[in-house]
Parts: sequence; structure tokens; C-alpha cells
Amino acid sequence: MIEDVREYIDRLQTDGYSVGEDHDDDPVLIDATGQAVDTWRENYPYDERLERSAYDQEKYALQVELIKFQNWTSEVGGKHVLLFEGRDAAGKGGTIKRFMEHLNPRYARTVALVKPTEREQHQWYYQRYVQHLPTGGEIVLFDRSWYNRAGVERVMGFADDEEYERFMEQTPLFERMLVDSGITLTKLWFSVTRSEQRTRFIIRQVDPVRQWKLSPMDLESLGKWEAYTAAKEEMFRRTDTDWAPWTTVKSNDKKRARLEAMRAFLSRFDYPGKDADVVGTPDPALVRRGIHAVG
Ligand code: ADP
Ligand code: AMP
Ligand code: MLT
Repeated sequence: MIEDVREYIDRLQTDGYSVGEDHDDDPVLIDATGQAVDTWRENYPYDERLERSAYDQEKYALQVELIKFQNWTSEVGGKHVLLFEGRDAAGKGGTIKRFMEHLNPRYARTVALVKPTEREQHQWYYQRYVQHLPTGGEIVLFDRSWYNRAGVERVMGFADDEEYERFMEQTPLFERMLVDSGITLTKLWFSVTRSEQRTRFIIRQVDPVRQWKLSPMDLESLGKWEAYTAAKEEMFRRTDTDWAPWTTVKSNDKKRARLEAMRAFLSRFDYPGKDADVVGTPDPALVRRGIHAVG
């Protein structure tokens, strides 16, 4: 589909940029004049990014809560599904990594599927996702999900109008069946602004250890911001239901986004030993119900 990937990479204009590290996993882009690029400020309700020390403490405390949650899940045979959605480079993968960090991997799994094979393309659309759903005692985190049909497949034309329309109609019903069967479904949308997305792409391009994350699909999406916006709005409009609502998390500050995602998830549940002070309630400046999100 991309005739000349080079051409797209050139559009990122990476000359003069370098990457500094705030910490092992939180890169900062430095421009040609030596200034840190601060596109994260765009549309963001806080003037400073969350400090590393506060982040480390809160993350640890929330991870302890996730372990309590997991113990409870295995005791009662609960089944939990989390969907991590959002534009490219929104921070889905990084958040999943922190969710999983201290969980028992035997009962918590991540599902990150590659593009459908020829065989999968002719199956029932939901089939390749259904086989990964949890059994009793399991937590399954989807790094992208069946919502690919409402996003990348819609925007890039991998699904035709009829397939798209059927998806939009049937997804609320599909999710109703999951929920009625005893699965809890948490749908998280990570929201990144346009210039911050671009900054993250440049980081991926400039930094050799991150280049694998910069996919041809990312480069294609550079020129399709508005199409993705329209697709996202339509998705919220038609798939935000009382039984499976969307939660959006403003993610220009990755650290805050990771903590808020954990909070949004944990605050839905009552489990033995829950520390209500640690879990608290999600920050209303960052976390919203999908259909009420601005933009
Ligand atoms: P990610 O951002 O998840 O690392 P990509 O940016 O490469 O991965 O692709 C985004 C999504 O688009 C992936 O879920 C991938 O499976 C999907 N995708 C890529 N090519 C196709 C295709 N031809 N048909 C359907 N889905 C595709
Ligand atoms: P998204 O498509 O969710 O990645 O976000 C696209 C645009 O909408 C960005 O420019 C965001 O700043 C803006 N946006 C998303 N959510 C909110 C929100 N809750 N409040 C204000 N702006 C938002
Ligand atoms: C994404 O959202 O595309 C990535 O998973 C970002 C990340 O590496 O955290």
C-alpha cells in the first residue's frame, strides 16, 4: 500500500533532533537548538508533567491494588477484559506494560494481534478475538481489539462499507453477550493530540531502539488525522452503551495517563482489602466517559 516508505519518513523531517531520556522508558525529544520539545502541553490541563518520584510511588501503590484485584479474581473465578485503544503512539503499550508488571502472568495475558491472515479474513469477524477471551480467574488485556474495524480498517479501507456498518450495528450486541456471560469489559481510549503524536513518531524514528515501533501504518496515519477523528467520533456515538461504556484518558502526559487508567479500572470494582485512598476516583480533568469527551 505504501509505494515509498522513504517519502513518508522524510515527511517527519527528523534532521537535528535527538532523544534524551527522562528515565529508561520516557524519552524526551530535543530539537536542533537543544530545547526539549513540549508538544505535550497542547490542550493539556496541567502545566507540569507528573514528577518521577510521585509517579513511582503512586504506580507502586496502584500495582499493589492490581495484585489484590488479581487474587480476588482467581478466588471467585472472575473474568475480566480490558481493551486498550487510541491513535498510534497514544501510549497503549506502555500502559499495558505497567498493568502487567507485577501481575502473575499465568492469570493475566496480553493479546496483541497482527493483521488478519487470509484464513481469518474469511472467518466471522469477531472469531479471532473470541478465542482469546478469559476463562474463570483470568484477566485479558487487548492491545487493540475488535475496534480495529471502526478505526484503522475504516480509515485505511481494509473493511468495506457493508462490513463496517455490520460491525457498528453488531458490536453493542456482541459486547452485551460478553457482559451477560459474566465477563467484565473495560474499554479505554488513550487520547493524544496531533503535535504530540508527531513528536512521538519523530522519537521513534530518531531513536534506534524505538524504530520497530514506527510502522508503515503510523506513517500513513500522519496525513489522516481528521479521518481518524471522524472514525473515533462515530465509534463513540455507536458503541458507547450502558453495559459497555468508553472511558477516555488524556495521554499527553504518559505517566499521568498510566496511573489514571489503573484508577479508572480499579475504581469499578470492590475487592477484599481495597485501599480506597490509593484507588481514589479518576481525575475528571483527564478521564471522561467517551461520548462526553471533547474533541
Ligand atoms: P500497532 O500500532 O498496533 O503497533 P500498526 O500501526 O502496524 O500496529 O497497525 C495498526 C493496526 O492495523 C494493527 O492492529 C494491525 O493489525 C492493523 N492492520 C494493519 N494492516 C492491516 C490490514 N491489511 N488489514 C487489517 N488490519 C490491518
Ligand atoms: P483523540 O482523537 O482522542 O486522540 O484526541 C484528539 C483531539 O481532541 C486532541 O487535540 C485532544 O486535545 C482533544 N481532546 C480529546 N479529549 C479531550 C478532552 N477530554 N478535553 C479536551 N480536549 C480533548
Ligand atoms: C501506542 O499507543 O501506539 C504505543 O503502544 C505507545 C507505547 O509504546 O506505549
